[in-house]
Amino acid sequence: MDTQRLFGIALEASRAAYAPYSKFRVGAALLCDDGTVITGVNVENRSFGLTVCAERGAVSAAVAAGKRSFAGVAVATPDADYPVSPCGACRQVLSEFMASDAPVAFGCSADKLVETIVGGLFPHDALHELDGRRE
Ligand code: THU
Repeated sequence: MDTQRLFGIALEASRAAYAPYSKFRVGAALLCDDGTVITGVNVENRSFGLTVCAERGAVSAAVAAGKRSFAGVAVATPDADYPVSPCGACRQVLSEFMASDAPVAFGCSADKLVETIVGGLFPHDALHELDGRRE
């Protein structure tokens, strides 16, 4: 699946975000190794620290559906006028299930998209030295 299409799915997903406090909707689309796409949105809470980001929501949904390996991810932040990159916590969680050369795209619209790789967001990740030894 091409990047623009995956980003389009993330953008569509962002409409379901629950973001009454920040008014900043985020949608994530994870391309699974089997070709399916699983989405996530940010889910905020009145106790602000309990907010779950779109990326981590997507990873949780995918793992619950039996998928643990992802070929790419796109993140849409339509309420910004510039691309907003995944937060530090989400970078680490994505790297748990993605190769360091897996593509990442984030943007506020289809024509303002930044394309990078997991290793670009989260370099020097020792976890990948364990590849093949995870359950
Ligand atoms: N947010 C995400 O969902 N993903 C990110 O990578 C950055 C931040 C959410 C958390 C919060 O609901 C809102 O965006 C503002 O920070």
